[in-house]
Amino acid sequence: MPSFPATRLRRLRRTSALRDLVRETDLSPADLVQPLFVVAGEGVREEVHSMPDVRRFSISELVGEAGEVQAAGIRAVLLFGIPAGKDDTGSGAYDDEGIVQMAVRALKDAHPGLLVVTDVCLCEYTSHGHCGFVRDGEVDNDITLELLAKTAISHAEAGADAVAPSDMMDGRVAAIRHQLDEEGHPNTPIIAYSAKYASALYGPFRVAAESTPEFGDRRGYQMDPANAAEAVREAELDLDEGADMLMVKPALPYLDVIRRVKDATRAPLAAYQVSGEYSMLKAAAGNGWIDERAAALEALTSIRRAGADVVISYYAKEAAGWLA
Ligand code: PBG
Ligand code: ZN
Repeated sequence: MPSFPATRLRRLRRTSALRDLVRETDLSPADLVQPLFVVAGEGVREEVHSMPDVRRFSISELVGEAGEVQAAGIRAVLLFGIPAGKDDTGSGAYDDEGIVQMAVRALKDAHPGLLVVTDVCLCEYTSHGHCGFVRDGEVDNDITLELLAKTAISHAEAGADAVAPSDMMDGRVAAIRHQLDEEGHPNTPIIAYSAKYASALYGPFRVAAESTPEFGDRRGYQMDPANAAEAVREAELDLDEGADMLMVKPALPYLDVIRRVKDATRAPLAAYQVSGEYSMLKAAAGNGWIDERAAALEALTSIRRAGADVVISYYAKEAAGWLA
């Protein structure tokens, strides 16, 4: 050990001032995105039992919540809608008077400086709960592309600052980009859920969004958790198709994927700390088994360290408070 005792890495760990000085990764509210759920009705602020401290808001309550999120220093929200009714083709997703479209208008009206990103998918709107149009028991890729493009356009017309397709159909970024450009929205960015895995960690979200598939599962379109090289291919295809930002989802079990995608593409990258990641922390904290604040900030920092520029997290508002 020739370098010891001359080299002692503990010297720079001794005090918090020294640790602050040499910290490699920072986490700030400006890096965080808060997901929000909007439901039909009035005066609704209902708790989601699978996700402690998460609520579903009707539009005016949502506007109030978004104001608090913005005041905490968060720049963007990611909006999910739960429609009053569902049908075979998920028509509520691309209805100009749909729940998300109305919520976007209300949010942009009340908080013009807050970025409103919309999740573009059909699963909350289809009676069968799949992310696309079902034909002969299978999700038909190319028919779904048209419906997704219509959805993205209606979000952009309502004033969405960016659209985030989460369906995992092949070619959706190209289809949405083409249609946005064609219909006068050349400046609306696409945040592609490029590497979205068929994860068991979406369970709590599906309770909140009422989007559990009625038959089968999503493994025919979402990625196999065992694959990482394929995530890089997905990311590269999305960039070729015109994606402005990429996403890896879930986050903490896929830190290697975040790193690979970042290194391979060097494109702006988001990672989504999904509902199951959140609820596991909340459950352990609720039982007094972990220090919630420390554990949550450690997870968020680790996601940044792995290479994510942006972290989408149900902890966003709470974390911003901790970081203040
Ligand atoms: C819809 C969608 C899902 C999530 C984001 N968009 C669920 C799914 O694919 O079943 C998961 C988010 C979370 O678990 O927090 N396509
Ligand atoms: Zn979906």
